[in-house]
Amino acid sequence: MSVILGIDIGGSGIKGAPVDTATGKLVAERYRIPTPEGAAPDAVRDVVAELVRHFGHPGPVGVTFPSIVQHGKTLSAANVDRGWIGLDADALFTRATGRDVTVINDADAAGLAEVRFGAGAGVPGVVLVLTFGTGIGSALIHDGVLVPNTELGHLYLKGDKHAETWASDRARERDDLNWKQWAKRVSRYLQYLEGLFSPDLFIIGGGVSKKADKWQPHIETKRTKLVPAALQNDAGIIGAAMMAERRAQA
Ligand code: BGC
Repeated sequence: MSVILGIDIGGSGIKGAPVDTATGKLVAERYRIPTPEGAAPDAVRDVVAELVRHFGHPGPVGVTFPSIVQHGKTLSAANVDRGWIGLDADALFTRATGRDVTVINDADAAGLAEVRFGAGAGVPGVVLVLTFGTGIGSALIHDGVLVPNTELGHLYLKGDKHAETWASDRARERDDLNWKQWAKRVSRYLQYLEGLFSPDLFIIGGGVSKKADKWQPHIETKRTKLVPAALQNDAGIIGAAMMAERRAQA
């Protein structure tokens, strides 16, 4: 059994837990520290280091981050401090923790976990995982292989608006939409994605996956099956641990 610490950096909380990467199960209770106001790199780095100390678990660490992450660098900052743009986040966290840290986009981590242990387990073909929260995250996976950093929340959907500014869960709250009204926006977005990617399955994650009974009956896709994510809050932590393990084995 290989147990690896996974850490999920979100807008309101930074959560971690050791994960059995053979089963996808957390082997200890999650520990959560509120995200420091503004989420500046040094403040987030200190929280990640505190989580690593808290668990004291040896070995590599996987960390998710809500931006493009290419070869360990965070390259965008749609909903976080701009100081992350171009930062070598792998190196920042590795120095602060003394561990080999692998950083991965938050939706990519959630997607990997869902297709291995969750709602997409055993599904062949193209699976598109979308997370609805402050933004919209995306993970495109074909027969278990991830194409990282698709950033489909930033497709232009309504004139000059990104999909996430119009159809995220934050947009639902901001525009005071009921679930049916929000589902109409999401349906339009999903139908657009169907035209571009012809997925075999949509998996809908993020905070809204816990409330699927409210919105799922109102969603209309053209031909693609849709399911809510199964791992909910743990998906990012599990996917981060999976990525750290892959890198350690590479
Ligand atoms: C970011 C993505 C992220 C998504 C969900 C978007 O604004 O650009 O990198 O995956 O939010 O957090």
